Amino acid sequence: MFISEICIDGFRNLEDVNYIPVKGINVLVGNNAQGKTNFLEAIYLLSSGSSFRIGQDKDLIRFGQDRFSIRAVYNYLDKQYSIALQYTLGKRKQLTINNKKHTLFQDRLVTTIFTPDDLFLIKGSPQRRRVFLDNLLKHLSLEYKTCSENYEHLLTRRNAILRSYPVNPTMLKAVDEVFSTTAAQVVLARLNLIKLLDEVILQFFKLLGGTESLRLKYALSFPLPSGRIKLDSIKDSIAENLLANHTRELQRKTTLIGPHRDDINFYLDEKNARIFASQGQQRNIVVALKMAELEVFYRIRGTYPIFLLDEVLAELDINRRRIMLSLLQDSPFQTFLTSVDISLFSNINGKIIGLEQGRLLD
Ligand SMILES: Nc1ncnc2c1ncn2[C@@H]1O[C@H](COP(=O)(O)OP(=O)(O)O)[C@@H](O)[C@H]1O
Ligand SMILES: [Mg+2]
Repeated sequence: MFISEICIDGFRNLEDVNYIPVKGINVLVGNNAQGKTNFLEAIYLLSSGSSFRIGQDKDLIRFGQDRFSIRAVYNYLDKQYSIALQYTLGKRKQLTINNKKHTLFQDRLVTTIFTPDDLFLIKGSPQRRRVFLDNLLKHLSLEYKTCSENYEHLLTRRNAILRSYPVNPTMLKAVDEVFSTTAAQVVLARLNLIKLLDEVILQFFKLLGGTESLRLKYALSFPLPSGRIKLDSIKDSIAENLLANHTRELQRKTTLIGPHRDDINFYLDEKNARIFASQGQQRNIVVALKMAELEVFYRIRGTYPIFLLDEVLAELDINRRRIMLSLLQDSPFQTFLTSVDISLFSNINGKIIGLEQGRLLD
């Protein structure tokens, strides 16, 4: 998919922005605090409905004003859509596609964002790696989105039961049946996704100069006999392990088994990258993972998401930066990237736009 027009007004410091992107690379250049990240945030918001930054919706409105609007025209496979997100203080955000409120999941604008923060994905908390998987899966399948939301509800309910005193065994038993089933659905979808990512990541890692073997593995919070990657077996294992950990759960007053405790491990030459890889190697893995994410999305949905890169290139060494730029240049997807340094893009084939105090320069 690609965006052919974008208009932003009253969003953060952006004023009266009308931009016609190219299908390839779009580079937003400007000094600090001119609105580059805000521009990417606006596109991200169109696709996801909420920001990747912390804060409340009202913070998104330009200081002193009471509304913002973000509009775009995009192509999804061979159809064209217009999408608009409007927000007025005191009201709910309103998202429309082709002027209609109800939106089809299949045709929604999808973005993948890559910020310097992501470069710490390998070293960061397991929670961040789970969020990475979940975000991708939610974009890939509405069924997964529902399932993962159900799981969050069930987990909250189950934890509330475990915190109550005395714990009601009948209530716990009733939740456990549906909890194990839903947990197994989440786990199975994640295992399948990891398998796909694992299949495609190595080619990108090699392109970035990696010489080692690179494997991704899903780390379960409970033992699953090998070769039993089927919904029923996963469900049975979760149920069995809940029972086996019953006393520990009563002591800790929280659910110890399930996808909320799982993790992803990366192995370089069969050694855990979190422990053994250098910072440079870890960065390479993350860049390759992001490229793999786009590729997997394409394999499943038949089109690429829009790729948003916030200042990432500046974080890479010259060699990696050159490779990454040529990868993006030759890619079939649309990229928006930001930088303070225009000299990084002297030879690129793309569109460079200046941004100053929230306005595009001609
Ligand atoms: N709601 C808002 N209204 C007006 N300006 C805002 C708002 N939120 C953030 N800003 C301003 O946006 C600027 C930061 O923009 P940002 O896109 O992060 O900069 P950069 O170009 O460095 O990526 C800051 O000057 C900040 O004060
Ligand atoms: Mg920025």
